[in-house]
Amino acid sequence: MANDTPRSDAVTSQGLDPDQGRGDPTPDVPEGWEPEQGPPLDSGLWEEEFWEEGPPREPGAKRRAMGPSAAGQIHLTLRIRRYNPQVRDEPWWDEFAVNMEPFDRLLDALHVVKWYHDGTLALRRSCAHGVCGSDAMLINGRNALACKVLVKDVAPRVTVEPIRGLRVLKDLIVDMEPFFEGYRRVLPYLINDEEPPDRERPQSPQERERYEDTTKCILCAACTTSCPIFWGDDAYIGPAAIVNAHRFIFDSRDQGARERLDILADRTGVFRCRTTFNCTEACPRGIHVTKAIQEVKRAIMFDRL
Ligand code: SF4
Ligand code: F3S
Ligand code: FES
Repeated sequence: MANDTPRSDAVTSQGLDPDQGRGDPTPDVPEGWEPEQGPPLDSGLWEEEFWEEGPPREPGAKRRAMGPSAAGQIHLTLRIRRYNPQVRDEPWWDEFAVNMEPFDRLLDALHVVKWYHDGTLALRRSCAHGVCGSDAMLINGRNALACKVLVKDVAPRVTVEPIRGLRVLKDLIVDMEPFFEGYRRVLPYLINDEEPPDRERPQSPQERERYEDTTKCILCAACTTSCPIFWGDDAYIGPAAIVNAHRFIFDSRDQGARERLDILADRTGVFRCRTTFNCTEACPRGIHVTKAIQEVKRAIMFDRL
């Protein structure tokens, strides 16, 4: 959402049109309140009269009717796969209608849902700029970061689900532990037992180029959770772990390549990959994931870096 858009404008678009007799479109907010904090509790925005009945939901969850959009805004319906084992055993679908600016990100729309429609919606995010890797989710059937998808590219309707292959904890939040377990297995840090030189360990531009691509990984799990081999066998270490192994295996300053290659030659390692390319297509950083996997396979087969 554009930084200069006051949150009260977004609220206005959610159903506080004075023509509907619902009150002041720009309700008072406490001094010092920031949009990132969500709706101020004492602003009157949480009053029951502003909410409509929706599908069965968690205690405390509310739904606000959507009002007319401001000029230039577009209408977006989010169909979100929900899950909360404390409420129901099975997942269910929930729909929310919001008005957004075309160049808002899908993450902004999810914030509007969480802050103004249903505060019980659970999702992970942090940087909102495609850097932290927290908000990978299945968007219209493809893995992507919600903060890198523009509303104009998915409107008028978008389906949002948790990434696949990992246990869903709540709504869009999955248990990342198996993913990070694979990451830790490949020893993703520099191994060099030699005495450090007085200055840095030198490396030529050509040596650096060897692993440049795989340094870009942000551990979002979009690759691993788009891999059909990983869906069927979570013992497979997965493409993200291999990418991060690649980053050190081909680093001329590192001495742990042999150890990592032995780990990846295991039956849960690189040879489980069937070159499906889903991982490469899913990577929001544009890393050539399948190519990196092939390079690691070749290093094992030909015992050559
Ligand atoms: Fe995410 Fe790409 Fe890293 Fe996979 S390789 S975890 S998709 S950044
Ligand atoms: Fe899976 Fe990527 Fe290999 S999608 S099968 S890890 S090429
Ligand atoms: Fe950090 Fe999207 S919120 S990558």
